[in-house]
Amino acid sequence: MTKPPSKSPGAGNRTGRKLGQKVKKGKLKASSRRWIERHINDPYVQRAKLEGYRARAAFKLLEIDEKHHILKGARRIIDLGAAPGSWSQIAAKVTNSTDEDIRVAAIDFLEMAPLPGVKVLQLDFLDPEAPRLLMEAIGGTPDLVISDMAAPTTGHQRTDHLRTMYLCEVAAHFAVEVLGEGGHFLAKTFQGGTERELLDMLKRNFRQVIHVKPAASRAESVEMFLLAKHFKGRKAEDAGADEQA
Ligand SMILES: C[S@@+](CC[C@H](N)C(=O)[O-])C[C@H]1O[C@@H](n2cnc3c(N)ncnc32)[C@H](O)[C@@H]1O
Repeated sequence: MTKPPSKSPGAGNRTGRKLGQKVKKGKLKASSRRWIERHINDPYVQRAKLEGYRARAAFKLLEIDEKHHILKGARRIIDLGAAPGSWSQIAAKVTNSTDEDIRVAAIDFLEMAPLPGVKVLQLDFLDPEAPRLLMEAIGGTPDLVISDMAAPTTGHQRTDHLRTMYLCEVAAHFAVEVLGEGGHFLAKTFQGGTERELLDMLKRNFRQVIHVKPAASRAESVEMFLLAKHFKGRKAEDAGADEQA
């Protein structure tokens, strides 16, 4: 299995594009201009381009993996909220997934360009059919469920926050239903946003549950990742439920 390299972008800029570029004042709104400036001057964006990743988000997964080793040995991966597909690119590489032997299933309600070795479902993960279709697509037990799902923004911060937290919660329950013993679950969440109940459920089911903030996740963003490692297996959850009954 080949592991993609991950280094934080250094001062050197190998794309040949200068950092610190300004967008000319014109028809654009100031907020749009600021967004474009931040994007074109972002070293992770430039590095993603250089290394052939579809999004800068690739480096969030690679940096988390560098420290927490969740990709090593993964044979089947499910990627939730996958578009445009940089996490799926990494997943296909580490699992050696091919179109003849698909080991990565990805879902997003947005269209995602095809990727070799990745079965892409264009569907809402909250659709009741999604879990079955994902499992059928992958043809075996996953050892890693990754979710970068973020609810589309409404402009109302509290609403956006709650909707993304709900996606994280549904993803966590899905992971506990499908993961193989020893598997891992990684999901986007928000600082201070993870519900006690969800953390308790994960702690019952995984040997280690932590919050992580990779350097590629913008410091000013409240985004965090919830990482649950070493799934204890479904018997553990059944036993937990029995004890509580
Ligand atoms: C930050 S992007 C993911 C980037 C991706 N990890 C990558 O590396 O390219 C979040 C994605 O979650 C998707 N998403 C949000 N809610 C979803 C849902 N209910 N079902 C499926 N996808 C969803 C969005 O459409 C968006 O494409």
